[in-house]
Amino acid sequence: MGKDVIIACDFKNASETLAFLDRFTGKKPFLKIGMELFYAEGPSIVRALKERGHKIFLDLKLHDIPNTVKKAMASLSALDVDLVNLHASGTVPMMEAALEGLRRPDGSRPLLIAVTQLTSTDQETMERDLLIKEPIDEVVLHYALNARRAGLDGVVCSPLEAGKVHERCGKDFLTVTPGIRFAEGERGDQRRVTTPEDAKKIGSDYIVVGRPITAAADPVAAYERCLAEFVDE
Ligand code: C5P
Repeated sequence: MGKDVIIACDFKNASETLAFLDRFTGKKPFLKIGMELFYAEGPSIVRALKERGHKIFLDLKLHDIPNTVKKAMASLSALDVDLVNLHASGTVPMMEAALEGLRRPDGSRPLLIAVTQLTSTDQETMERDLLIKEPIDEVVLHYALNARRAGLDGVVCSPLEAGKVHERCGKDFLTVTPGIRFAEGERGDQRRVTTPEDAKKIGSDYIVVGRPITAAADPVAAYERCLAEFVDE
């Protein structure tokens, strides 16, 4: 898969999601389904969007013992999703088990990426609550290396970290990056943001864009602007 823009479908139910997507006549954007929508609608929302021809990133961030994660990943893989994720803090054996669970009978599997440290965690909370004393940037890179060692395809990270992750883990190790805003846009609750154009320069492979598209007066135009800045030459 090449560079692409993934729209975060942070809607509370299927009807809101489908009404939003109906505006994209003839286009099939890559979509992210997160916990809010998945827990409200269950696997049927994934099937409905796959039937409409979309690629799906199922963002459920699994974290449990290896055997449980392996079996859960087998269930997700059967939904024919394209990209799934887990927490790298589940450790290498959990990530390896997840990969095993994802493999389909025909040998194919969805791409698997890891969350390193959540962007809501900062140095202070990591030291206080998790008793991790290393600099957070190093922790992120260490977790990314663990993910690569386990055989994963990449990580979710800030676009600002994408260059370093590629340096340390290789250029083919995917960086999937939320925290995207247009130059003149509202930041909302995101803190460390970049434009689609800068994310491309730093080396993100996929940008995940929510409100700059979903809350735009013209979502289709906002999506096309992301594509123009991030994907097109
Ligand atoms: O609306 P916005 O563009 O901020 O949406 C970004 C999406 O990416 C949301 O679905 C958010 O949950 C997700 N995300 C994030 N930061 C992470 C991981 C996921 O913003 N570290």
